[in-house]
Amino acid sequence: MKKLASSLNKKNKFLILGCGFSGNFFAKTIRKLGCTALTSARSQSKDPYSFVFNSDSNVVPNEKIFNGVTHILSCIPPDKNGEDPVLKRLKSKLQNLSLEWAGYLSTTGVYGNTKGDWVSEIDQPNPFHKRSHKRLNCEKEWIESGLPVQIFRLPGIYGPGRSTFEAIKNKKIRVISKKNQVFSRIHVADITNAIIYLLQNKNSLKFHQIINIADDEPCSQIEVIQYCYDLLGLKMPKPILFEYAKEELSPIAQSFWMENRRVSNKLLCQTLGYELIYKNYKQGLKNCFLNS
Ligand SMILES: NC(=O)c1ccc[n+]([C@@H]2O[C@H](COP(=O)([O-])OP(=O)(O)OC[C@H]3O[C@@H](n4cnc5c(N)ncnc54)[C@H](OP(=O)(O)O)[C@@H]3O)[C@@H](O)[C@H]2O)c1
Repeated sequence: MKKLASSLNKKNKFLILGCGFSGNFFAKTIRKLGCTALTSARSQSKDPYSFVFNSDSNVVPNEKIFNGVTHILSCIPPDKNGEDPVLKRLKSKLQNLSLEWAGYLSTTGVYGNTKGDWVSEIDQPNPFHKRSHKRLNCEKEWIESGLPVQIFRLPGIYGPGRSTFEAIKNKKIRVISKKNQVFSRIHVADITNAIIYLLQNKNSLKFHQIINIADDEPCSQIEVIQYCYDLLGLKMPKPILFEYAKEELSPIAQSFWMENRRVSNKLLCQTLGYELIYKNYKQGLKNCFLNS
């Protein structure tokens, strides 16, 4: 098979804005490919590749950080006023860089509640929660910024160090059942690998500005929890019906149960040809189990 021309090379310099769970995984992986990756955090760290960026206190990176930057990836959610932290403080700086690519991690929350139906990128966003309205506004601002932006809509992110296993170990697990309720998910490694795949094949694949990254099998929370207990060789506590459990949930936890949708990955996996590493929660959680 003919090898596709890669648009990624070792001269590429990435700024990862917001080096949390996904940003950190991406930075480590892209460095293994020989690229430079500098990462932001809100406070000083000993990591020589980390710099401070905090939109709330208006601490912005110094000029040197931006020298030679070709790609950026923003993994920072909207701030409490609904503004995008990166665009609020750095938009004109980024517009002057002649970037090759700007990635923005968004959420599938912008689709709202589809009562269990599938949603894809061609569906009109219909945000339900206030935070999803804010997110959609941030997406729009990225698109209107004139930067070469590509938006990745993500469902629940999990991976080694952040999964149902941690909730079980920390005794934070709540086994709740709600009829016909499903959630979509994505393993952090697939977020990184899908983005890298798209960058590597940028010259030969049709450009899509908005892409869902989700696994193949949305399913109930109970199935996921049961599978984790099985892997741990423990007995799962008896599920509590959502109607009874909801009083004890935080407002944010309650809000997740108010939306029910299946996120389609057809654009990414069929049209654009990305092959998921972890096609479903069982494969992904096995990886978390072996690496926790
Ligand atoms: N977690 C999920 O299940 C999920 C699902 C769908 C979409 N998303 C979205 O996908 C993106 C990545 O998610 P994640 O879970 O990997 O993120 P995360 O671990 O929560 O990391 C977020 C990063 O943003 C930085 N940050 C937050 N507010 C900031 C501000 N005002 N100024 C500068 N930096 C700021 C944080 O800095 P510090 O390192 O200093 O804390 C952190 O590095 C986020 O936009 C998230 O909302 C998440």
